[in-house]
Amino acid sequence: MPKTATQTRALSDAEPFGVYVHWPFCAAKCPYCDFNSHVRHGGIDEDRFLAAYLKELAHFAALTPRTVTSVFFGGGTPSLMAPRVTDAILDAIATHWTLDANAEITLEANPTSVEAENFRGYAAAGVNRLSLGVQALDDASLKALGRCHSADEALAAFALARDCFERISFDLIYAREGQSLDGWTDELTRALGFAADHLSLYQLTIEDGTPFAALHEAGRLHVPASEAARAMYLATQELCEAAGLPAYEVSNHAVPGAESRHNLVYWRGHDYAGIGAGAHARITTGGTKRALSTLRLPEAWLAEVEARGHGLASDEPLSPRESAEEYLLMALRLAEGMGLSRFAALAGTPLDETRIDALAAEGLLSRTGDRLTATPTGRLVLERLILELAA
Ligand SMILES: C[S@@+](CC[C@H](N)C(=O)[O-])C[C@H]1O[C@@H](n2cnc3c(N)ncnc32)[C@H](O)[C@@H]1O
Ligand code: SF4
Repeated sequence: MPKTATQTRALSDAEPFGVYVHWPFCAAKCPYCDFNSHVRHGGIDEDRFLAAYLKELAHFAALTPRTVTSVFFGGGTPSLMAPRVTDAILDAIATHWTLDANAEITLEANPTSVEAENFRGYAAAGVNRLSLGVQALDDASLKALGRCHSADEALAAFALARDCFERISFDLIYAREGQSLDGWTDELTRALGFAADHLSLYQLTIEDGTPFAALHEAGRLHVPASEAARAMYLATQELCEAAGLPAYEVSNHAVPGAESRHNLVYWRGHDYAGIGAGAHARITTGGTKRALSTLRLPEAWLAEVEARGHGLASDEPLSPRESAEEYLLMALRLAEGMGLSRFAALAGTPLDETRIDALAAEGLLSRTGDRLTATPTGRLVLERLILELAA
């Protein structure tokens, strides 16, 4: 049910606080993906999992009573979740915490026709933003990525989503095998022609331990060389900017004002709860930021929650330096960059001015007052920037 007025309240001035809910199941495993996602051909006991989600939610709410400004159902494939499960989880969030009247509630969906049937149910449960994993706009590429849907199915799911949700994003993967710069700019131009207010555009990463990594190592999968991938990245920035969806983060583009508020919680270094197998959380208690994570294997997590009320595998305090470096790592991904005084307040000591100046002289950083941002070229070498700044 849509959440009632008694369960919500107007936006407060307090810092944003997000709740991430991880659904760790997929219909099939894509060969490039190393997310915590599992295939269970025998099906799963959704009621048992729901009961565990509700228990773990209660545990987190007791740790940190806050106003929730965003909820994100991520995966895995949350669009395999029955809408009644989503509804019950959202009800529990609104009961245990205060759910902001304007909370952004996102669900990640795969664009198969079966999953699209659930869209109206998610909207009725309170989901107001859908993030659709389109990945490519032609069938040959989708097949090469091991996806379970055709391009037409993805477009039909997108059209249905437009009828159901206020806000929609979709994901594409570029720098795929055999893809040229022209091929990608044509595909992106097509995508921008029908995009709503947000796009996530990821360069294909060969993740260790995946089937793509094995093929790549064996010389049977050839991805564009780093210079070609770099040209695709730069073309992506230009095309999106010209279409009115500038990059606000390395891989994320939005009409100004339509940025993902939930992901901004991570990148701006705010607190969030993480529920479900393999979820991560950052929670500040007594002035100390804690890094928490839950067991990754769904059945192990389930048994643990049933026995102890939560599936936490780790809960570590972060030192001021660790907390500040995490902020640096996240915030430099953003076009708005990081606050130098915020870093200094977290770390207890400011960033080294001579290092900032040297990286700025190389054209990798730019500084305006208290804000430090990575330039578009700097965002291509973020790891190096962060290592040098934090050294
Ligand atoms: C974990 S998935 C969850 C969404 C949904 N299951 C799907 O596949 O559409 C989130 C996004 O991560 C991106 N992704 C996953 N593995 C990737 C990789 N190796 N390289 C680039 N992008 C990747 C995909 O674009 C995907 O949409
Ligand atoms: S990319 Fe999405 S659908 Fe594919 S295995 Fe990963 S989480 Fe599942």
